[in-house]
Amino acid sequence: MSAQQAPRPDAAARVSRLTVPALAKLAADGVRIAMLTAYDASFAALCDRAGVDVLLVGDSLGMVVQGQLSTLSVSLAETLYHTRCVVAGCARALVIADLPFGTYQASPCAAYDAAAAALKAGAQMVKIEGGAWLAPTVAFLTTRGIPVCGHIGLQPQSVNALGGYRVQGKTPDAAEALQGDARALVEAGAALLVAECVPRSLGAALTAASGVPVIGIGAGPDCSGQVLVIYDALGIQPGRPARFVRNFLSGRDSVEAALAAYVAAVKDGTFPAAEHCF
Ligand code: KIV
Repeated sequence: MSAQQAPRPDAAARVSRLTVPALAKLAADGVRIAMLTAYDASFAALCDRAGVDVLLVGDSLGMVVQGQLSTLSVSLAETLYHTRCVVAGCARALVIADLPFGTYQASPCAAYDAAAAALKAGAQMVKIEGGAWLAPTVAFLTTRGIPVCGHIGLQPQSVNALGGYRVQGKTPDAAEALQGDARALVEAGAALLVAECVPRSLGAALTAASGVPVIGIGAGPDCSGQVLVIYDALGIQPGRPARFVRNFLSGRDSVEAALAAYVAAVKDGTFPAAEHCF
């Protein structure tokens, strides 16, 4: 075999990487999707080996990596840097990049520029926070070949408007509004939704109605999959953990074992349990 014919390692990696349609198939087959955040190549590689399906380069990096009080200060350049690190470290997981605050809200064109940069950095999908008002942006991106994950429920980039990190969709009106947001995003082309901090019943209803996989974080066990900030899943946090968090390192002797336990618990439906739900 000549050097030209020899398969390049990165080409082999691309072949085995999960795709957006493959995620939809997992959900359709009733296989729960295990997702974690990642910010660097080493953790991305460990997650990959543990069988994590999706890695999110979350703007939570502003809090857990940079030590800020919110996600708002994260820049696009920082997101692109961490996306390149994560993509370099994993071969199978689908990689999603969070578009940072201020890069997509003003116009679909602004969102396109930021999202295109994220895909050039190696992400396969971008995540944006917001409801029905973002539908034109989702349509603009998806018609131009950029897969979009909509983030509804608690939207940390809106912490100043919300006045804190609180459970969303608790009243019937608020739950109905959230269902409308999900519908609008999916009709506009979103291929995945993240639902954060909503009552278990609403997580279940969103999952049943959306027609795309719904990944929950504090949204109960009836979603198509679960996501946690990896530092939370490993018990690395300065304060009291949020109700929806489980420390998977507790009682285990390695990060590898903790990540494998997370994947197993998501897949077999034992995480989240009743005590993690709202
Ligand atoms: O930024 C992030 O880590 C997220 C997850 C909490 C879903 O958006």
